[in-house]
Amino acid sequence: MLRVAVLTVSDRSSEGIRPDASGPVLVKRVGELSWEVTGIAICPDDVDSISKQLVEWSDNDIADLILTTGGTGLAPRDVTPEATQSVVTRLIPGIPEAMRAASLLKTPHAMLSRGLAGVRGRSLIINLPGSPKAALENLDAVAAALEHAVSKIQGDPSDCAQT
Ligand code: MTE
Repeated sequence: MLRVAVLTVSDRSSEGIRPDASGPVLVKRVGELSWEVTGIAICPDDVDSISKQLVEWSDNDIADLILTTGGTGLAPRDVTPEATQSVVTRLIPGIPEAMRAASLLKTPHAMLSRGLAGVRGRSLIINLPGSPKAALENLDAVAAALEHAVSKIQGDPSDCAQT
């Protein structure tokens, strides 16, 4: 069972101008995967706000997996990957590679997401796109590998060749 925190990154949702749609659908999917939601937040498209929330959840051991949604694209205010890069110690390129490969089968716009995945302390951080449909499609593309990823991040010494 993973402990999961969900961060919606959106100027408009953080100001209350637009309801957060992607956060709730991710929370629902986390439950369907039999994982536990241990944090929910909304923040503006601002590097400091995003990185502060990521650090708070990872450094206080609130979540094994932190999912962000939004701000991965090409608009001038899209800075979620930059904020994530600034707080992780290691990138995991295979996770966004898998998300984009699966998503390209659905839309050519998948190549426009710059989302990253990386490690901070004992937490795995994954950037998902902002629309509810895109967020779910990206999470579903990699969900089957995430429990194993987290156990390795947290020091599971078992030999993968034996499993
Ligand atoms: N991935 C999937 N699976 N499905 C989608 O509909 N939309 C794309 C892309 N990834 C999409 C997707 C679009 S249109 C954009 S602009 C980028 O994600 C970035 O989205 P974001 O800026 O909301 O994070």
